[in-house]
Amino acid sequence: MPASIRMEPNGPYVVTGPITIADVDGNEIHVEEGHTVKLCRCGHSGKKPYCDTTHRRVDFVSRPSFLPEPVEKTKSWVTQPI
Ligand code: FES
Repeated sequence: MPASIRMEPNGPYVVTGPITIADVDGNEIHVEEGHTVKLCRCGHSGKKPYCDTTHRRVDFVSRPSFLPEPVEKTKSWVTQPI
């Protein structure tokens, strides 16, 4: 099963492996196939980049639907051309 990222309503990004996530210092976490990690989307977690459920306490409200933006050949956060 391929890696995926799902947005929980009014909550975190749920990342399902297999995938490797690197921080700005190059530290990596490996999410095994079928395992998940929840990444904060509200900006209020005390355990960033992970969700610690603070989004519930701050009543985080996400956009009601996914509005895709135009895809460019490269983005600064993409390390290889798409
Ligand atoms: S999305 Fe859960 S703490 Fe931010």
